[in-house]
Amino acid sequence: MDKIQEIVLKKARGKKITMLTAYDYATGLLVDKAGIDMVLVGDSLANVVLGLDSTTLVYMPEMLHHAKAVRRGVKNALLIGDMPYDSYQSDPTQAVKNAGRFIKEAGCEAVKLEWFRQCPFVAEAIIKSGIPVMGHVGLTPQTAESFKVQGKDAASAQEIIEQARILQEVGCFSIVLECIPQQLATVITETLNIPTIGIGSGVHCDGQVLVINDLLGLFDRYQPRFTKKYVNLTPIILEALAHYKSEVENSVFPGAEHSFAMDEEEFKKLKD
Ligand code: KIV
Repeated sequence: MDKIQEIVLKKARGKKITMLTAYDYATGLLVDKAGIDMVLVGDSLANVVLGLDSTTLVYMPEMLHHAKAVRRGVKNALLIGDMPYDSYQSDPTQAVKNAGRFIKEAGCEAVKLEWFRQCPFVAEAIIKSGIPVMGHVGLTPQTAESFKVQGKDAASAQEIIEQARILQEVGCFSIVLECIPQQLATVITETLNIPTIGIGSGVHCDGQVLVINDLLGLFDRYQPRFTKKYVNLTPIILEALAHYKSEVENSVFPGAEHSFAMDEEEFKKLKD
């Protein structure tokens, strides 16, 4: 059974699915060692790694560069490349080619697309080319006008249900539900056969995803209510850096155990 089938089967068996983002080799290795089911090289790279204000400011070269690094660390989890805005929304005719680059050049096993008007057509074309696609509805940061909960009234909730249904119909293997009310996420989860992966969408989704920097306390610009800091690494790292600075300034580091010695005879020759 391939990894995609295993993910889909988890829903049928009532087993929760775990997913996290990663942007480099070291984090990919850790997330994989922790037994997380899916690793997303998210375009959140723009915000949490590159310090940019919008995910629309990352392009294929950056995404491929980071996806290749994550690939070297991830052995078991399903590796998904997040298609950047420019790779499929500004020119949908380039979508299949760019999805293929995630697979061929970076070794990803699937791609993720955010909902936009032509999403069904683009997703279907990519799937027909043999590449598994994960959809993404609700709050879609690449095109969102404001970062607030989506689908709070019946009409907009109905639209999101329809989008999720269409994405299942064109063959997506899973769908991210971002920042929608938990009742709406529950309805979508119960209606679809494919797994829903929630972020800010309540506990009844088939699985959950978080941005790894939020989980580890490594992003200080904003913390949306739906994220959870499982550990705050920032003060721990700052303490280690202050310790290093102090040891260098006081000639404590490097100690003898971190240094190399030259044979005394050779050293004498050098001095003579
Ligand atoms: O880019 C990203 O990190 C994402 C997740 C929030 C699902 O799309």
